[in-house]
Parts: sequence; structure tokens; C-alpha cells
Amino acid sequence: QLLPRLYHERVVDHYNNPRNVGSFDKTDPTVGTGLVGAPACGDVMKLQIKVDDQTGKIVDACFKTFGCGSAIASSSVATEWVKGKQMEEVLTIKNTEIAKHLSLPPVKLHCSMLAEDAIKAAVKDYEAKRGKLGADTESAP
Ligand code: FES
Ligand code: FES
Repeated sequence: QLLPRLYHERVVDHYNNPRNVGSFDKTDPTVGTGLVGAPACGDVMKLQIKVDDQTGKIVDACFKTFGCGSAIASSSVATEWVKGKQMEEVLTIKNTEIAKHLSLPPVKLHCSMLAEDAIKAAVKDYEAKRGKLGADTESAP
């Protein structure tokens, strides 16, 4: 038992075996990238989604987090939860649900907040890219 009892076994599990660690090409038009930081501790989380243009479904997700175990576990859970869902659906994922799932202690709530913010930022980035794509096509000669 490396981590103190303070942490729920799910945190330890996601910390030891994080799901979907990695990066997608952020210039890929089907990829949305959310990069967020926590000013309080300096931790940084990058979460990326790959979206099916036709259906708006998130077909894949990955993350890279430079931060504490709770932030890593939160992002790992977040990538699992967004996969296979519609973009509007994942915007309703609350940090409190992630925190509850992982039984995070109160001082670690902001770690799950990073995950919620990262999901929202990834969706926003994808939508911004699509908007730009549409504009480009329209303005094309
Ligand atoms: Fe040190 Fe998050 S405060 S890793
Ligand atoms: Fe800051 Fe976990 S301690 S994200």
C-alpha cells in the first residue's frame, strides 16, 4: 500500500493504471483539445476528444496530466466517461460526480474540477474548429 488510506481504491487504481493516456494530433479537424491548469497548485491537464463529424459522437478520448494522483485519476475517469457519448451529453458531466466516484477528499475537489473544465474546453475547441472550417468553405472562391 503505497498511497495513504486517505485515497479510495478507485483513485489508486486509476493512478496505477490510467486509462487512455496519450495525445491526438491537435491539428486534426476531428480532434478537440482542452488544456487547463489549476492556479492553486500549478497542475496542468490536457484532455482530447475525437469526434465523428456526422453524428457528433465522441469516438475516442485521451489525456495527459502533469499533476497529483487525484488529477490523474480524475482525467482518466473523464476520458472513460466521454467515450461513446454525444458532445452535448458530456457537457453535463459535473466535477462533483467525478469526485464522488473517486471519493476524493475535500482538499482534492479542485482536481476533479480540472477534469470538468478540460472536457468543456475540448468540446469548445472542437466546435471552434468546425466553425472556422465552415467559414473557410463559405469564403472559398
Ligand atoms: Fe503537487 Fe498537485 S499540488 S501535484
Ligand atoms: Fe491540484 Fe490535484 S492538487 S490538481
